[in-house]
Amino acid sequence: MQTLVTGATGTLGTALIPRLQAAGHEVRVASRSPPADATADWVELDLASGDGLAAAVRDVDVVVHAATAPTGDSETVDVEGTRRLLDAAADAGVSNFVYPSIAGIDDIPYSYYEHKLAAERAIEDSDVPDTILRATQFHEFVADIFDTLSKLPVWPLPTEMRIQPVAVAEVADVLVEEAVPEPRGRMPPMGGPQVHTVGDLARGYRTAKGLRRPIVRLPIPTATFRAFRDGKATCPDRAVGTVTWQAWLENGRSPSERSDGAVGAPAETT
Ligand SMILES: NC(=O)c1ccc[n+]([C@@H]2O[C@H](COP(=O)([O-])OP(=O)(O)OC[C@H]3O[C@@H](n4cnc5c(N)ncnc54)[C@H](OP(=O)(O)O)[C@@H]3O)[C@@H](O)[C@H]2O)c1
Repeated sequence: MQTLVTGATGTLGTALIPRLQAAGHEVRVASRSPPADATADWVELDLASGDGLAAAVRDVDVVVHAATAPTGDSETVDVEGTRRLLDAAADAGVSNFVYPSIAGIDDIPYSYYEHKLAAERAIEDSDVPDTILRATQFHEFVADIFDTLSKLPVWPLPTEMRIQPVAVAEVADVLVEEAVPEPRGRMPPMGGPQVHTVGDLARGYRTAKGLRRPIVRLPIPTATFRAFRDGKATCPDRAVGTVTWQAWLENGRSPSERSDGAVGAPAETT
């Protein structure tokens, strides 16, 4: 089976490539820059312009569409780019368009989430058969934020926000199971094993890194913050991930999830 992974250089794309290969897929990967893992056939694709689309989808059976622009122009990339990719996938006769989305996006007023929702609708409205899996925030995503914050002497954080992080490896495992010619439509969402406040997550990270920075509650009086505080980004009845934040912090990222091949994150001291 020929499978296309968009977003090949991203957190999820990086986890998907070796898993799909191990499951016997012929994997083609697409992104604007080449992935560190050069074992798959790479196509340069820009979803904002459509450059590379025809080559990306040629003879493809299944698409796993993991490209996204959360900090960029998500309307152009996630909405218009997904529509462009769907048109190309329809022309290529793709039998399953697998889409990772995000838990709670219909209840959280945030422009990136509105664009994810529009992308989901475009997928469901298109003629291409689809599988949509919403997941909660990845441990890797949360850790990246704390990695950036860790340089500051004090950590101002919206400590009451609640999320239910999940290991990207576990999300990738489910998506690989679904990367088959039979579409599943909308699947139940997938969350990590525990719901945490951001304050809890930050304290766990601080301990794991041997840091002593003060964590300061940052009130953010917005509807987006209130939705996160009220748990709209969580799905506690779908806590199917097994790797806790604590375990993930202790064991670090596995070599396949880290571009430098190192296991674990080095401890720092203050
Ligand atoms: N991160 C989370 O916590 C989380 C949680 C649940 C669901 N998800 C969903 O999972 C999917 C993957 O997320 P992620 O965290 O792996 O994303 P990511 O790490 O930000 O990676 C984004 C990928 O998209 C590619 N990309 C960006 N702009 C592009 C463009 N114009 N044309 C083509 N490719 C482009 C990037 O590669 P280049 O820059 O090289 O082009 C990169 O490979 C997304 O749909 C996201 O919404 C994420």
